[in-house]
Amino acid sequence: MQRIVSGMRSTGRLHLGHYLGVIQNWVNLQNDNECYFFVADWHALTTKYDNTKDLRQDVIDVVIDWLASGINPEKSTIYVQSLIPEIAELNIYLSMVTPQNWVERDPTLKDMAKILRSKESTNSQISYGLMGYPVLMSADIMMLNANAVPVGVDQVAHIEITRDIVRRFNNIYKTDFFNEPQPLLNHCSLICGLDGNKMSKSYNNDIKISDTEEITAKKIMTAITDRSRLRRDDLGHPDQCEVAFKYWQVFGDNAQVETVKSECEKGIRGCADCKRQLGSLVNQRLHEIRERRKYYEEHLDEVNEIIRSGSEKTRLEAQKVLKEVRNIIGMY
Ligand code: TRP
Ligand code: SF4
Repeated sequence: MQRIVSGMRSTGRLHLGHYLGVIQNWVNLQNDNECYFFVADWHALTTKYDNTKDLRQDVIDVVIDWLASGINPEKSTIYVQSLIPEIAELNIYLSMVTPQNWVERDPTLKDMAKILRSKESTNSQISYGLMGYPVLMSADIMMLNANAVPVGVDQVAHIEITRDIVRRFNNIYKTDFFNEPQPLLNHCSLICGLDGNKMSKSYNNDIKISDTEEITAKKIMTAITDRSRLRRDDLGHPDQCEVAFKYWQVFGDNAQVETVKSECEKGIRGCADCKRQLGSLVNQRLHEIRERRKYYEEHLDEVNEIIRSGSEKTRLEAQKVLKEVRNIIGMY
C-alpha cells in the first residue's frame, strides 16, 4: 500500500488523451493504494493569471470528468490545491533549498516557455511563478509525503526535480523525513490527436470525455487515414493509416483489429465505413462514463461536497507534515 499523489491543471474539460494516458491509471491504482488526486488551480494560474473568468468552472469540470471516468470518492481523496494553503508555505521552504539552475534546465518548463513566447499576448513574459512550477509541484507531492506519482511522460522531468529536492532537503537538514517519490507511468499506448499530432485542446484535434455521441462520431470522420489510398478498392496499408487504425488498436479487441487489417489490405473496406464503425465503437466504450458525467452534472451539490470534504481531509494530513517540516528546519 503506497501513498499516491497526482494532479492535473484545471484547463477545462478533459479529453481522451487525459483519460487513456493518466486517469485510467489512477482508477486502477485507487483499489489498493491510498490515493490523493487534486486539481492544480495554482499551476493553471502560472500561465492563465490574466484570464481567470472560467477558473471556478474549470475546476468543477475537471472533477466531474474524473468522477465520470471512475475515480471513486469512497476510495480516493479528491481536493483542490488552492484550498490547501499549507502547500504555499511548504513551497516557500522548498524554494529556499532549490538551486536556480535546477528550474532553469527543466525541459518541460523550457517547452512551456517557448510556447508562451510565441504568443502575442500580455502574458508572453515568463513569470516568477511559472519558473517555480516544478518547485510548487514538489510541494504538492511532498505535502503528503507521497511515495509514488502517476503521471504522463511529459511530467517525468518535473518529478525528477522533486526527487532532487527531496534529497537536498533531507541532506541539508540531516533528516530522512521525506520519501523520494517514484513516477508511475501508464503502459497503455498514448493516443494521438485526430490529425496525428499530440492530442491537445489547443491543437483542436481532441475528443472530449464530455462530447456527445454525435460530435464524437463527426470528429472521428475527420481522423487521418492511409494517405496513399484514394479509392475504396485501393489496397490499404493499416500501418500507414496514421490515426484511424491506431484508434482501432486502442479501442478494439484483437478480433476486430484483425478484421479491419485484413479487409483494409484487401481493399474491401472503405475508410468512411471504417471510421463510422470506429465512431460507434468509441461511443460504446465511453457510454458508461458519459452517463455518469450526466449524473454529476445534474448533482453539482454532490460534486462540491466531494471537493469540500476531500480538501478538509487533505488539509489535516498536510498540517501534520508541515508541523514536522517547521520543526526540522527550526522555525519559530
Ligand atoms: N503539472 C501537472 C500537469 O500539468 C499537474 C500537477 C501539478 C501535478 N502538481 C502536480 C501532477 C503534482 C503530479 C504531481 O498535468
Ligand atoms: Fe485506415 Fe480503416 Fe481506411 Fe484502412 S480502411 S486506411 S484502417 S481508415
